[in-house]
Amino acid sequence: MSFRLKLTLLKHDVELWSGGGSGIGRAVCLRLASEGASVVVADISEQSANETLGSLPSDLRGQGHMAAVVDVSSKESVTKLTRYFQPPSVCVNAAGITQDDFLLSMDEQHFDRVVQVNLKGSFLVTQAVAQALVACGAPKGSIITVGSIVGKVGNIGQANYSASKAGVEGLTRTAAKELSRFGIRCNCVLPGFISTPMTDKVPEKVISKIKSLVPMGRMGEPAEVADVCAFLASDDSRYITGTSIEVTGGLFIG
Ligand SMILES: NC(=O)c1ccc[n+]([C@@H]2O[C@H](COP(=O)([O-])OP(=O)(O)OC[C@H]3O[C@@H](n4cnc5c(N)ncnc54)[C@H](O)[C@@H]3O)[C@@H](O)[C@H]2O)c1
Repeated sequence: MSFRLKLTLLKHDVELWSGGGSGIGRAVCLRLASEGASVVVADISEQSANETLGSLPSDLRGQGHMAAVVDVSSKESVTKLTRYFQPPSVCVNAAGITQDDFLLSMDEQHFDRVVQVNLKGSFLVTQAVAQALVACGAPKGSIITVGSIVGKVGNIGQANYSASKAGVEGLTRTAAKELSRFGIRCNCVLPGFISTPMTDKVPEKVISKIKSLVPMGRMGEPAEVADVCAFLASDDSRYITGTSIEVTGGLFIG
């Protein structure tokens, strides 16, 4: 028998998920929609955002979802997105990319692009959502960023990605310190290796090696990260801010 914690989300809360078109972001959209939230699925891919939108339950009265196209690395695009609807009481920054290469040969453009999407994107979305919440006098908000365990421990071939994810943690802790007085909590989830289109690109040999290092002996599922985001989104985590929660099956616990 399985049971699920009922989260104390307001029924008509609006949630914004960047990178909601795939993988972890999609799983988070599904989880929160099933709790009764109205979800804005924002992604650079219109098709992926619409696919997620089509899969969301909307059985509860007053619940309505929408899909939107955004490039989180562009201030203009993010500003347009957040002007479009009422300030979301919950925001998850799940958009992210990898462009792997060894440090010795990594292209400057590949470094810049990964930092622009993963780190600057998290900054732009967090800033826009926080500004909107403060401007309308919202009593509270929960902003969740998605870092990575490799931001803490590094990863061969991912100088750009691990640097961007370490930055996301610093950004989140600073945002937590600055925004607490407005009732806005900011927390970061640090997934380990989760089965999504992002990790589908990783060669099977490397995946087997990773699994052998995970104490729980397997990759994680997007829904397992989504469940932690749902907790951080809800009032059940009302005294938690500025923290990072590892969702790794025990990988790199020491
Ligand atoms: N899968 C993992 O093992 C893992 C581990 C640690 C952290 N993460 C992080 O989790 C988040 C989600 O990753 P995922 O595995 O679900 O990957 P994914 O590739 O399945 O999903 C990423 C989504 O982000 C969107 N996106 C990319 N660039 C964008 C942009 N500029 N603006 C808006 N949307 C954009 C993509 O279209 C896609 O829908 C990412 O931040 C990733 O770095 C993933």
